Amino acid sequence: MLNWDHFNEPDDTTAAPPAPVVMAAQQTAQRAESASTAVTADVTRYEPTGSAAYENALKALEVLDVAPGLEELAMGAQRVLVDDKRMINCRADLNQLVPFKYDWAWTKYLDGCANHWMPQEVNMTADIALWRANDGLSPEERIVIKRSLGFFSTADSLVANNLVLSIYRLITNPECRQYLLRQAFEEAIHTHAYQYCIESLGMDEGEIFNMYREIPSVAKKAAWALKYTQSIGNPSFQTGSTENDQELLKNLIAFYCVMEGLFFYCGFTQILSMGRRNKMTGVAEQFQYILRDESMHVNFGIDVINQIKNENAELWSPEFQAEITQMMMEGLALEIEYARDTMPRGILGMNAAMMEEYLKFITNRRLIQIGLAEQFPGAENPFPWMSEIMDLRKEKNFFETRVTEYQVGGALSWD
Ligand SMILES: [Fe+2]
Ligand SMILES: [Fe+2]
Repeated sequence: MLNWDHFNEPDDTTAAPPAPVVMAAQQTAQRAESASTAVTADVTRYEPTGSAAYENALKALEVLDVAPGLEELAMGAQRVLVDDKRMINCRADLNQLVPFKYDWAWTKYLDGCANHWMPQEVNMTADIALWRANDGLSPEERIVIKRSLGFFSTADSLVANNLVLSIYRLITNPECRQYLLRQAFEEAIHTHAYQYCIESLGMDEGEIFNMYREIPSVAKKAAWALKYTQSIGNPSFQTGSTENDQELLKNLIAFYCVMEGLFFYCGFTQILSMGRRNKMTGVAEQFQYILRDESMHVNFGIDVINQIKNENAELWSPEFQAEITQMMMEGLALEIEYARDTMPRGILGMNAAMMEEYLKFITNRRLIQIGLAEQFPGAENPFPWMSEIMDLRKEKNFFETRVTEYQVGGALSWD
């Protein structure tokens, strides 16, 4: 355990630093002094250190530009004011987290951290026994499990790649970027969880991880989302025009409202229904924690989308709203196709028709959340228990089932 009492104990290594360290410290102090009076550093003062590489490094630092223009900022530029901050096309310094403008983004970041979990903490023993047993699962149930792991094992990589490679640089707000980094790590944990299930059950990894290219109902969902990554993923793509800002909005809606907000729901419902019937409880528990994370991702994305709309009202034209509505309908159609493909007959107390009703209910909700008209008035939720699972707190049953401990800062050994 790290103890502050050790901080004041004599330490030979700190009492007598080697000569090059002292010289370096003096040079650093001199450099700091000169930097405070002039941006152009004095490059003439060197003391021999015995290390050519270190001397070369010092020479390089002498000509370091202390106003490098990261995000095109000048040395001595005005401090960041809350009113300068904008969700996209912001010119204020993006390296300063505070002052917060979007408190909801910071709160979601804290909530995400408070819900941290790891796949190895879930006990998979019963699942392994059931999966290996000849009569434990019906052929239809096996297809549902394989299809779910097949879709999700690559879907979360698509989401993570979209976040890191496309969205991150275009969202010009530090507190939202802080959440995006947390979300990106959660997507890595989700991919880890699916891999952990696949490995635990001894599945054919090649078969499962290639479903997004080989099984049509899975492949179409992945291809549909990838289209929106490609549209803004080109490194030369920049926001700042109506057309390009709308392109970014389309990406955000495709990923947050459709990919994470709709495409995940058929598979989640199927696996969680299985868990409610005491089958594949380890896989179902992994999915529970993932679903809880995902519902927070969707809520964050919807807040970002609505904030961009508020700050850039011209983007939300009637024509664009019609385009977005059609996008959402395309997503719905693909998810209905997936439901029919994975449930040709009734299974686990549900069938494709019930799932279609549920998906229309969710689509209505997503449309309303971003300020569009619902398309299926009267659609109802046939699976109200799903809402309860989404609100699950980790403490509820987590520590009864955890099988391993992961290290946290307070438990690290400094020996
Ligand atoms: Fe995820
Ligand atoms: Fe997600």
